[in-house]
Formats: sequence, structure tokens, C-alpha cells
Amino acid sequence: MATRQASAANDPSANAQRDSDGRLQHLITLEGLSRDELTALLDLAQFYVRAPGDLPARDQSLAGHTVANLFFEPSTRTRVSFELAAQRLGAEVVNLDMQSSSRVKGETVLDTIYTLQAMHADILIMRDAEPGLPAMIARHVAPHVCILNAGEAHLSHPTQGLLDALTIRQHRADFSQLTVLIAGDIAHSRVARSAWQALTTLGVKELRIAAPEDLMPPAGEFAGATRYGDIDAAMRGVDAVMALRIQRERMLHSQIPDEASYYRTFGITSERLNLAKPDAIVLHPGPMNRDVEIASDVADGRRSVIQRQVTNGVAVRMAVLATIVRNVQARRQLR
Ligand code: NCD
Repeated sequence: MATRQASAANDPSANAQRDSDGRLQHLITLEGLSRDELTALLDLAQFYVRAPGDLPARDQSLAGHTVANLFFEPSTRTRVSFELAAQRLGAEVVNLDMQSSSRVKGETVLDTIYTLQAMHADILIMRDAEPGLPAMIARHVAPHVCILNAGEAHLSHPTQGLLDALTIRQHRADFSQLTVLIAGDIAHSRVARSAWQALTTLGVKELRIAAPEDLMPPAGEFAGATRYGDIDAAMRGVDAVMALRIQRERMLHSQIPDEASYYRTFGITSERLNLAKPDAIVLHPGPMNRDVEIASDVADGRRSVIQRQVTNGVAVRMAVLATIVRNVQARRQLR
């Protein structure tokens, strides 16, 4: 079984996300969340999942709350997914246009946050390229304000890790029976790091990471995962494979691999997929580069659960929003 030392005690983000009673007030990282906490979030998300064609789940868990989306890096599905999740729970939602925000004029992020807080925005969802920013902001906001990390540099993307775990659990309920492969640009991927945190805590049998040498994370990261330089060897017998986009924006120009040779040596093709278990599923967080990290026919094929991941993303974000709001309300009632 993939095991690792819980390092939450030394992780500033893991500490910053809890209130003085130990409840989650923010969601910045999956590091330090217990198996029970992860399972409770997945169970609540599963409750919010609806079959295709059905009307989406709705309730009023966030009635009276104001959610602000602050995305300082590009996003399509994560931003829309948080917005729909908040709306379906009855919140008021504002999307800041970061290209024309005051940060461009030199305002600090904290001043932007204080401005939103003064307007009674109480749930702030943020994506940024700067490591440590969500934890820093969480330490400065008022006690009733929650920060949700929607992507922090190459480090963390907790709701993506949760939706990946949920999608894998829907395929096979018992994590202790599962071998999962994460393949591609692991070094620069916050998706891979959050998936590793979720899946190891949930007790997956084996977690494999496969990457060309230049895209492998430094030794010491991804504790407990088995490392592969050869994608074919890594694919053998897996229950689930997650392909990752090459994160060009986090590389120097000289580090960016040639797409055609990357596809030949590392792309998830149907021939390679035949090495996995016959019912293995294929995940991708999006946005996809077809015929680079994943063959187009695999992305659209019967083993692809990529659209299901998107559906699960809304449900997971509803579960996270409902949980942190419930935690803030519980603390208020105690005081
Ligand atoms: C990912 C991200 O932004 O980290 N996308 C996402 O949130 N669905 C992965 C990526 O950009 O490749």
C-alpha cells in the first residue's frame, strides 16, 4: 500500500486552513485532511451528483452568502464550476475581471481582499501563480471569511484532487484494491500533487507516477509513489490512468518538450491503454492538448471519464462550500 508520513504539522498551508477548534475554515491544501474528512466530503459530493439529463441538485446552504471568484491565472472549468456550485447553493456570486482589476494598477492582493471583505463577500475563491498566497491571505481575513484555493502555482489544487478521487471511487469503491497511474508533467502539476495527497490518504493500493526525466518531481516529493520513466511499464495492470497537460507556462522556453516526440514516447494512446486493466478508466483535468499527452480517440473513447470529472467537479465544489459554511456557522453558535 502507498504510505507516507503525515507532514501536516510542518505544512503552513495545512495549519492556516483550520480554525482554533481544528475545523476547516478554508480549503488550501488536502495535506493534513484525515481519511474521514476526505470521505465525508466525497460522500456529500456524491449526494449532489445527478445523472446526465436530470436537473442539477440545489439547496439553500449558502443563502445570504456572497462568493467572489478571483482568478489571476486562466481558467474555464474550475471557475465556472465554482460559480455554478455557489449559485446552486443559493449564494450571490461575483466574478472579478482580473485583467482590469486594481492589482494591475499596483494594489496589493491583500488590499483587494480587504475591499471585498468590506463589501461583505465572505467566501473568496482564488487562483494564483504565487506559492503560499492563499495561506497568507487566510491568516489575514476576518474570522467569518473563507478562502478556497482554486489552484496555487504548481503546488495545490484541492478541489481537483477531490473530484479526481470521487471519479475514481465511482469506478471502484474500494481504494485499497486500486492501482492508479498519474502520467506526464508531474513536476509542474498542482493536479498531480493534490491527487497524490487525496489518494494516498484514502489508502490506494499503489500510486504510480510516470514522467520523462525532465518532468519528474525532485526526490522526496510524492512519498510512497512508485516512479516510472517508461510509460509502457507504468501502464501495466492499472485501474485508472490520469493524463496531464504539459504546463508550458511554468517552464523556461528551452525546457518545453517537442510535442510530436512527447506524443510518441509518452502520449496515452489506445495501444498503451491496452496494457492497463480491460476496464481501466482514463482521466484528464483539462484543458487537454489532443494528440500530445492524450490521443484524441482515447479522450473520446468508452474508457474516458473526462466529462464525468467535470460533472463531479460541480458536486465536489458544492460539498466543499456547504462544509466550510457549516463549520463557520458552528463556530458562531459556540461563541
Ligand atoms: C488544471 C490546472 O489549472 O491546474 N486545470 C484545471 O483546473 N482543470 C490543469 C491544467 O491547467 O493543465
